[in-house]
Amino acid sequence: MQMSEPKPKSHRPGPEYALRLDAGDELSQFREEFVVPEPDLIYLDGNSLGRLPRRTAEHLETAVSDGWGRDLIRGWNAGWYDAPSRIGDRIGRLIGAGNGQVVVSDSTSVNLFKLVMAALSLHPGRERIVSDVLNFPSDLYVLQGCIHLLGKRHRLYLAPSDDGITVDLPALLRAIDEHTALVTLSHVTFKSGFLHDAAAVTARAREVGAPVLWDLSHSVGVVPIELDGWGADMAVGCCYKYLNGGPGAPAFLYVRREWQERTRSPIWGWFGQRAPFGFDLDYEPADGIGRFLAGTPPVLSMVPLEPALDLILEAGIERIRQKSVSLTSYLVYLVDTVLAPLGFTLGTPRDAACRGSHVSIRHSEGYRINRALIEEMQVLPDFREPDNIRLGLAPLYTSFSDVWEAVNRVRCVMTEGRYRRYRQERRPVT
Ligand SMILES: Cc1ncc(COP(=O)(O)O)c(C=O)c1O
Repeated sequence: MQMSEPKPKSHRPGPEYALRLDAGDELSQFREEFVVPEPDLIYLDGNSLGRLPRRTAEHLETAVSDGWGRDLIRGWNAGWYDAPSRIGDRIGRLIGAGNGQVVVSDSTSVNLFKLVMAALSLHPGRERIVSDVLNFPSDLYVLQGCIHLLGKRHRLYLAPSDDGITVDLPALLRAIDEHTALVTLSHVTFKSGFLHDAAAVTARAREVGAPVLWDLSHSVGVVPIELDGWGADMAVGCCYKYLNGGPGAPAFLYVRREWQERTRSPIWGWFGQRAPFGFDLDYEPADGIGRFLAGTPPVLSMVPLEPALDLILEAGIERIRQKSVSLTSYLVYLVDTVLAPLGFTLGTPRDAACRGSHVSIRHSEGYRINRALIEEMQVLPDFREPDNIRLGLAPLYTSFSDVWEAVNRVRCVMTEGRYRRYRQERRPVT
């Protein structure tokens, strides 16, 4: 894939250059597909909660009125029952997984728990779990919980990060050896947006027979993923970020076909039973990926996923990645030229091949700057401790002009000292 990194010739970056980039944007028409009720609002949090697609709003209305309202219980035999695997297969097309290896269910944290427990059963004699310090805290909590549940037989090794942004690949590969029971990492890290070399990590783990479990939450829908091709064993991911599945959308999980019959979920619920409506008193796991389901799927929360996934499949993941690289490269350029003189540093890798679709900018006043952007500048990023303002660029609806204007508004917050009006005390959700 060609990585286009826009850099204007002029040393005075301005909105005209952003407009030129927008004019050449092959995906620009996809913005029309989203509900944008406040045109002046620059939404840079699609990496946390994606925007609402127009077709989803209609689809959901029909699902409520015709599905729940009219079909009632008949809905289960008219598409609800097989929705977890039907939608799972569609997500599979975005993550390089052949049919029958992905289901939609529960939250990412719960799916991670199920798969960590399943993976650790594969090599009972091995004790080391390898992850890194940039992983999402919930993932690390789940690992700690699993270690606790399994009688503290395992040790969690967290590969360090010298700069707080990246993890050294050779050092990570050296940490994976014949004692490794599991390697589990976020493909794109939540704070710095660092993109792991998943093919290299997976290859090393396979060499020593260690299962690999990827958390794809920050890469699915914006970065090409080849789970089958890499030889990955398991994966989980969120559907409410770049997949635009809506707040609280259920997550997905992937288990490579060859492991499905050899592993079990630790939660033996009826939806993972071979014949839930046989009501047998003893548990027999379902054949295949269905055994990783637990209880009744959240039907109405799954409904928005189908139209939202169609949008991504229509745009094509390669084109989405290409625009994402162009957007983040343009933003990095603006950070260097406009924001660095105002005390900001880049909290994300400079090399486009090593980052996902969000860019973190760091400033000692980051929290108050973020508050000012939200409260009075019509810019919606988010904040991650201790000093990161995360700017999520969603290629289907973020334009180059949005990026320019957001940076311009950050500049106003600084030059006009607007952030000083806000307190340092954190709100519950940042
Ligand atoms: C990388 C990553 N993993 C896991 C989670 C947790 O997801 P959930 O709340 O669905 O369990 C998040 C949430 O933002 C995340 O960013």
